[in-house]
Amino acid sequence: MRKPMMAGNWKMNMTVAEALALTRQIVQLVGDTTAVEMLLCPPSVCLHPLKAISSAMPFSLGAQNCHWQDSGAFTGEISPPMLQGLADYVILGHSERRQLFGETDETVNKKTHAALTHQLAPIVCVGESLDQNESGQTAAIITAQVQAALAGLSAEQLQSLVIAYEPIWAIGTGRAATAETAGEICGLVRNILRESHGGSVADTTRVLYGGSTKPDNIGEIMEQPDIDGALIGGASLEAASYAQMVKITAEQYGG
Ligand code: PGA
Repeated sequence: MRKPMMAGNWKMNMTVAEALALTRQIVQLVGDTTAVEMLLCPPSVCLHPLKAISSAMPFSLGAQNCHWQDSGAFTGEISPPMLQGLADYVILGHSERRQLFGETDETVNKKTHAALTHQLAPIVCVGESLDQNESGQTAAIITAQVQAALAGLSAEQLQSLVIAYEPIWAIGTGRAATAETAGEICGLVRNILRESHGGSVADTTRVLYGGSTKPDNIGEIMEQPDIDGALIGGASLEAASYAQMVKITAEQYGG
């Protein structure tokens, strides 16, 4: 069974002090939960301080990006070996990285290879723009992005894979996809995985939906059989709303 995941993508928010305070508040509000994986993805400078308090706390940690090389003259970049031991996951190919920092399907693929080589579980983000959505290209875009990100990787290598479907028009806009649409596209992602890497990868990969999720809509989104969790931006920056989303999901999954 796929364990549901509520992943908080904090983006470029939170100082170390704020990150520690937010994390403590979240843990206090959620209490003990084993039914849902709580994943916090803070800015990379916060990973070490959060790791230091994580042993007694029920959350995993993820980075928001990494380079594909192990080391070298890449000013400002962070490599997978540097994240090893600090993060369990790494978000790759978020649409903000694709749109604002020139990431392409090819670099996302290189990063996915590099993350897996260093035992970091990749959370590969895919999603279509409003134009692409309105001109009926969603399925083609998602198929191309998923296939490109996973090119050259075997089923054995993809055991820890997570994919996040995040329509660009839904991110930070307050306009989430309907639960049905989100569920349909996450189902499409699973079918793409089944065709490219077989039934076992399709059945075990967690597929998240992201884009304006909040306490009000998480219940219906999580009712969709092909959605295994959410990648949450804005609502993950407030302890109360993130904790509520974790609790709603935990109740749905009976724990
Ligand atoms: P949002 O962001 O929840 O604020 O829409 C989601 C994301 O960018 O991962």
